[in-house]
Amino acid sequence: MTASIGRVVVLLGAPGAGKGTQAQILSERLGLAHVATGDLFRAAVRDETPLGLTAKGYMDRGELVPDAVTIEMLLERLAKPDAAAGILLDGFPRNTAQAEVLDKALADKGGRVDIAPYIEVPEADLVARLGGRWICRAGGHPYHEQTKRPLKAGVCDVDGSELYQRTDDQPATVQARLRQQLGALDEVVAYYRGHGVLQTVDGRRGIEQVTADLLAALAPLTGSKG
Ligand code: AP5
Repeated sequence: MTASIGRVVVLLGAPGAGKGTQAQILSERLGLAHVATGDLFRAAVRDETPLGLTAKGYMDRGELVPDAVTIEMLLERLAKPDAAAGILLDGFPRNTAQAEVLDKALADKGGRVDIAPYIEVPEADLVARLGGRWICRAGGHPYHEQTKRPLKAGVCDVDGSELYQRTDDQPATVQARLRQQLGALDEVVAYYRGHGVLQTVDGRRGIEQVTADLLAALAPLTGSKG
């Protein structure tokens, strides 16, 4: 970890709830480092590192990667200099064991989870969102066949890289991810509710409206009136 840590936001939501979409917008608006464990794992898989080789099988089956591996990777990421200004976590923690480790690591540096916004989306919507998703190879920017089309088919508006469909967005794997991961998400939501930092946002609304609702939920952190 860095010597100290700034503001810490934990963005919660089921697979496909819109965490990545919103995290990219919010991290830029709030000046926070966007730390997405799924992106870190996908980079490791692409680079065929030992971490990637370990993670790939779990990801392909829609299961969580074991805590020991995930937590070590996360703590290494938080030690990078950009984390000192504050972080927006996307995809971590995924269970209460990870949440407890995070709390301890932050406390060691005089920090804590300031706000945990939860993007709530019904399961039927999640299936449709994941089935129609395309993301870009360079930056992981997400698009959707119906709700967020790129200006040019198959090309990322932001960085011009190719769009592709994640292997874990195949229908059978989507079902497995939801089946395996929604229970643990409920426990993490309860954990942060118990710590008084949970803010639930209706994720069924359009992307821009969800951003506005998240910014309003984060207003105590930014000092803005929303
Ligand atoms: P990860 O990459 O974190 O995947 P995930 O949690 O399943 O989340 P997604 O990236 O699928 O969805 P999202 O919420 O970011 O939605 P998005 O914004 O793209 O993890 C992948 C795997 O890595 C895991 O399964 C696990 O194996 C492993 N892993 C990662 N972290 C781990 C951890 N901590 N511990 C253990 N294992 C871990 O949006 C989805 C689609 O909907 C897009 O097409 C988007 O355009 C569209 N959309 C977004 N918002 C809206 C809206 N408001 N209205 C309409 N459409 C919308």
